[in-house]
Amino acid sequence: MRSVLMHISDLHAGRTFHPRVADQLAREAHDLRPDLLIISGDLVQRADFASQWEAIIQYLQQLPQPQLIVPGNHDVPLFHVVERFTRPLDRYQQYISANLNPVFERPGLVVVGGNSAHGLTIDGGFVSDEQQRIMAQLFARYPDDVCKIAVLHHGVVHPPGHEKRTIVRNVAEVTQMLEQSGVDVLLCGHHHVSYVGVAGNAKGFVVCQSGTSTSRRIREGERGRNAYNVLTIEEATIHISQRRYVEMSGRFEPLGEYEFQRRGAWLPAHRRNEPQTL
Ligand SMILES: [Fe+2]
Ligand SMILES: [Fe+2]
Repeated sequence: MRSVLMHISDLHAGRTFHPRVADQLAREAHDLRPDLLIISGDLVQRADFASQWEAIIQYLQQLPQPQLIVPGNHDVPLFHVVERFTRPLDRYQQYISANLNPVFERPGLVVVGGNSAHGLTIDGGFVSDEQQRIMAQLFARYPDDVCKIAVLHHGVVHPPGHEKRTIVRNVAEVTQMLEQSGVDVLLCGHHHVSYVGVAGNAKGFVVCQSGTSTSRRIREGERGRNAYNVLTIEEATIHISQRRYVEMSGRFEPLGEYEFQRRGAWLPAHRRNEPQTL
């Protein structure tokens, strides 16, 4: 069965939220009518402030359902230090979802979310042993021919030119878990840079990163480049379309297009589509 997924990220409700871009994103999401809307973390700018959670809840209500959401490092409080270290995800779980491992399935597809956010650093991430075990167990319920998509906030590769940005600290373990689980695509965010590439050591998997979809927190040289991805999953292929907001037209417009064959290794297929950042 053909599935269409819309992948947005790093909404950052708060001072840097861009309402005009966010309104356009919501319009395009409803036009697309995806089978699932995926949000890969950093919902708020500062998790300490209730007003930002309330704002993002209101915005999420304007977007299509169903939604699959994971937390990011900005969804952990910064100033409430005790809470940050002892109960870092309490606010996310109170306002967004108690479930840190959401699962979406339809015939031929499963999407599993995981948590890479914690209170030990401001920017970094890791996937705990428990989170890895839960994700592996969830994926193991599905046969090989089902397309498996993992969602984390932090990624496992550095897009070219962004080598200093943080990825999951335990990258070797996480990559191995995803690969052994037969994951086809990892969706992530955090760098505020759109990127499609591959990771892994054997068959590997596709890494699909979204830039920030609605925030002005755009990295050097990326100004005006809010973005999202559309994935079309078919039995034999995965198509990824990167969309970027263009100020002149006031719309997100297609930029990169990638097609991957689901049978065999990802790497040869990808060489026909050079990795690129937006
Ligand atoms: Fe972010
Ligand atoms: Fe982040």
